[in-house]
Amino acid sequence: MRVTMIGAGYVGLVSGACFADFGHDVTCVDKDANRIAALRRGEIPIFEPGLDQLVATNISQRRLQFSTEPTGIGEADAVFIAVGTPSRRGDGHADLSYIYSAVREIAPLLPPSAIVVTKSTVPVGTGDEIERILREARPDADMHVVSNPEFLREGAAIYDFKHPDRIVIGTDDARARSVIAEVYRPLYLNAAPILYVGRRTAELIKYAANAFLATKITFINEIADLCESVGADVQDVARGMGLDNRIGSKFLHAGPGFGGSCLPKDTMALIKTAHDYGAPVRIVETVAAVNEQRKRAMARKVVAALDGSIRGKTIAVLGLSFKPNTDDTRDSPSIPLITALHDLGATVRGYDPAAMEQAKLQLPGVVYCDSAYEAAEDAHALVIATEWEQFRALDLDRLRTIMQEPVIVDLRNIYRADEMARANFRYLTIGRPDAERKQGAAARRRKLGNGKATPSKELTGAL
Ligand code: UDX
Ligand code: UDX
Repeated sequence: MRVTMIGAGYVGLVSGACFADFGHDVTCVDKDANRIAALRRGEIPIFEPGLDQLVATNISQRRLQFSTEPTGIGEADAVFIAVGTPSRRGDGHADLSYIYSAVREIAPLLPPSAIVVTKSTVPVGTGDEIERILREARPDADMHVVSNPEFLREGAAIYDFKHPDRIVIGTDDARARSVIAEVYRPLYLNAAPILYVGRRTAELIKYAANAFLATKITFINEIADLCESVGADVQDVARGMGLDNRIGSKFLHAGPGFGGSCLPKDTMALIKTAHDYGAPVRIVETVAAVNEQRKRAMARKVVAALDGSIRGKTIAVLGLSFKPNTDDTRDSPSIPLITALHDLGATVRGYDPAAMEQAKLQLPGVVYCDSAYEAAEDAHALVIATEWEQFRALDLDRLRTIMQEPVIVDLRNIYRADEMARANFRYLTIGRPDAERKQGAAARRRKLGNGKATPSKELTGAL
């Protein structure tokens, strides 16, 4: 089939490359001439594992083209819209200006029976407005607008695209349904369920799903805070909850708050839509507020780890992207955290395996370093803000010799308290007050000379 993808950003590029890989003939169109020129040279403007190879293969097999103009759109079986829908400055509504201007631009060029599909995350009713614009521009045509939201996670986007939990196709038109089903046909082999729903329902599914994920994370984050107060371990609580099939174990990792290009923006947009329709989503409103405060509040943990003051001290922060395997720093918890550390008078040394260039644009005052160890040099405390694989097995002995004080604040709970104790680190976590207590016990045992062998049952059991 012939597919045109308008917008070669994160979603457009991943979706376009995957459709080409299914065997379709795909043209990705983007206004940004530099981006298109780079893509034609095989340079990928975003960090997404495996995407460079996928793009290169499909370019060489002539199934994937890039253009600044919607050439060939007149013959397309389906036209996908994947331009950005950022939060509008000032009010948090989704900014739909890119969508509508793209639709106005392509309207005169579309085939008379075009199927136009929104992949961008758009508020309920956007499909209706797109249809109205198309009708106005082409009163004689028989075009249909479909909502087909994406559920891609950054860093795992290609896998997610090829192994979706579900494909949502929102339209009441039978012809449009069958065209989009045909575009996704190669996935039937993986038995991906297709959900045929109304267009407004499809638009809402995307927001409801992201808002629910955001709620789940925020729920466990608050339980983590409670764990710290009552002396319980959030990882065990999450496991105990998650084994209940009705709850499920995913998205129950306590941390510094959710970030990224989607969850914060989409929860905000859902809140705005719900208000406009007089049906407020109070739970989601609370989730957004709690999450916003949480990120900056993480600095308090660092202050507590250094006995009440960080003024004049040096803090190493490992991880600047909002999660591992991406260079994306949009709404990353590291940003408000570092701003707060600066406000409290600390010097911050930062390192990230992929996101340094992005971070430099947002955080000019940080001393950027070339490795985790360089960042840790002379630091009074080291904060693990993003759980990159390479931060999971740091050489603790080496760290202790280069840091001024042996203090680690682990906002992703990726270390065991007993190994930190063995390495003589003060170790603070999220929602694991036991970690510090047991660590103290291990240190005392070591002093008594009986802690060197394998840790006691009590220790291993709880960690
Ligand atoms: C996407 C979706 O659009 C958004 O709804 C979802 O919530 C997250 O993912 P993303 O792909 O990340 O957004 O956006 P971005 O990387 O900004 O890409 C948008 C691209 O569209 C840019 O390359 C931009 O140049 C291009 N564009 C924008 C056009 O080609 N034409 C336009 O009229 C506007
Ligand atoms: C999300 C959705 O998962 C995806 O379906 C949607 O299409 C886009 O938004 P993404 O933003 O790439 O994907 O990242 P995700 O893996 O969902 O993580 C979002 C944030 O939540 C990150 O900051 C992450 O660290 C945080 N998170 C996630 C937690 O703090 N705890 C968890 O258990 C899971």
